Amino acid sequence: MNRSLEPRAVEAWEIQAGRIDPYYVKVLTRVLAAHAMTQKMAATGYRRTLDTIADPSLRALAERNHARERLHVRAVYRMLEELGVTERAAERTLLSAWRSPSFEAARFFAEQAQGEVDLLMAGLSLETTGLLVLGINYVDSSYAPHARLAQSELEEKAANDQVFSDLLADAAARFGLQAVGERLIRWLPMAANFFGPAGSGFTNECLRLGLKRKDNQELAELYLSMVARRCACAGLNMPRLTGAYPRRLA
Ligand SMILES: [Fe+2]
Repeated sequence: MNRSLEPRAVEAWEIQAGRIDPYYVKVLTRVLAAHAMTQKMAATGYRRTLDTIADPSLRALAERNHARERLHVRAVYRMLEELGVTERAAERTLLSAWRSPSFEAARFFAEQAQGEVDLLMAGLSLETTGLLVLGINYVDSSYAPHARLAQSELEEKAANDQVFSDLLADAAARFGLQAVGERLIRWLPMAANFFGPAGSGFTNECLRLGLKRKDNQELAELYLSMVARRCACAGLNMPRLTGAYPRRLA
């Protein structure tokens, strides 16, 4: 896939001045809407876990993440506003995607997650996937404000991912291997589906327009190899998944 636009090629004022193809703006809007929505669900999920977690250090972690995600959501909606897109209009672009498997993990976190092990799983599912998307796709976006936002969030995101990674490595002692293993079976297919189908038309357009850099399949495989390493460190069995989206237990 040849990209037609280099990283950080487009600024907001160029869109405002009508210098950019409306099709580019349309695809960009959907990318930003999905980015905002995922973080909104993450914020809701972290808030939700606070009601079901007693451990003070884990509560502090959930609170920190809740506050951070809320800031991120606002930053992305501000970016959309610059393009003349309201939060509501942005959400409307996701109507059909919303029930798809790629939002399953975020939806589950926001609507059903309970307790400490689910917080740990949300870390592995939302933070690690988020880190990959931010660090690989968005940081080199052709839309300069999105690339700058990703760059500014990246260090913090990586540190946060490390916190969850350390927590997982300690899972046997803190939560018990069986409890974590059972939850991993529930969460892992949803987390892997976050990246969406291989070679989707929308993603191909994102690649062509420089709004993403890697295909969904490649990111999903990278993600699963990271999780496999972390599971091995923690003494957890990595659940076997089917190879194609939507991934399920094999
Ligand atoms: Fe975020």
